Amino acid sequence: MDVGGDMETTSALGDFAPGDHILLVDERDREYLVRVPPPGETVRVKGESFDSATLCAQHDGGLLVSPQRRRYLTLRPTLQQLVMNMPRAAQIIYPKDLGLILMWGDVAPGMRVAEVGCGHGALTMTLLRALGPEGRLTSFEVRRDHLNRTRKNIARYLGEEALARWTPVLADPCMEGLGSESFHRLFTDIPEPWNLLEAAVASLEPGGVWVAYVPTVLQMSRLVESLDRHRHFCLARAFECLQRFWHVRGLSVRPQHEMKAHTGFIIVCRRRWIEPTSEEATPPSPAEPAEEQD
Ligand SMILES: C[S@@+](CC[C@H](N)C(=O)[O-])C[C@H]1O[C@@H](n2cnc3c(N)ncnc32)[C@H](O)[C@@H]1O
Repeated sequence: MDVGGDMETTSALGDFAPGDHILLVDERDREYLVRVPPPGETVRVKGESFDSATLCAQHDGGLLVSPQRRRYLTLRPTLQQLVMNMPRAAQIIYPKDLGLILMWGDVAPGMRVAEVGCGHGALTMTLLRALGPEGRLTSFEVRRDHLNRTRKNIARYLGEEALARWTPVLADPCMEGLGSESFHRLFTDIPEPWNLLEAAVASLEPGGVWVAYVPTVLQMSRLVESLDRHRHFCLARAFECLQRFWHVRGLSVRPQHEMKAHTGFIIVCRRRWIEPTSEEATPPSPAEPAEEQD
């Protein structure tokens, strides 16, 4: 990347404030996500200190020349840049898949959505942003530490207001179901999503979309076959996304040598509306075992 040299560097009134995130991009396209510290404090990037006032004075899309004459583009990070640069110990869904998941999941502002397996929250944050101020997201997770990390990431990267639209639930919905609320959309990133079929039937509205994400071909085929066999689901399909960047420099226009080829499979299906039979319409008495729905 050419970070240029003819742009303004700083002015008294910049675009950033303490607590904001600012992405510094160096001349080799390396990204450094920093949070503007409180007044009087500094952050370090590549061995150099930047004080709060200097960072606040930067512009979104501007140029910062460091004391050691390193040049950085200064940008307010996009969600893609936040997700790729946030500290994480659990595997996340990458932006190339997150974009497809949003489109195939048909997420729209104001919906009620359930997520199972939030990890450190890359998909959680993506959903919360797409759902807008009226939407609601309930995330089920079996690990308390992952829920806590996701909560911190939401507050830190989307802002505290987003927490008001998010309901974390420490539970395994494969065992305990998805609760009494119904959902327009369901997203899962768990190892055995076929164990969630009955919970999804109970809580996903007819016509609703379920998008599952799994890393291996065996998980993918087992889920698709389970969905195909289940009369409450239809239109199950599976795909993956191979994203290949291109090197474009003069006559050297070619695919980049390296790519992140496989990440995971995306499986999409719809919940059918089925005329309730008299047996299904009547809840079984506690003495009788519930009938299998397959
Ligand atoms: C790969 S991580 C999810 C990553 C997340 N989608 C993201 O984009 O950052 C999978 C998560 O599912 C959780 N998990 C596994 N089985 C589960 C289950 N049956 N119910 C709820 N959470 C589950 C794990 O604890 C883990 O945090």
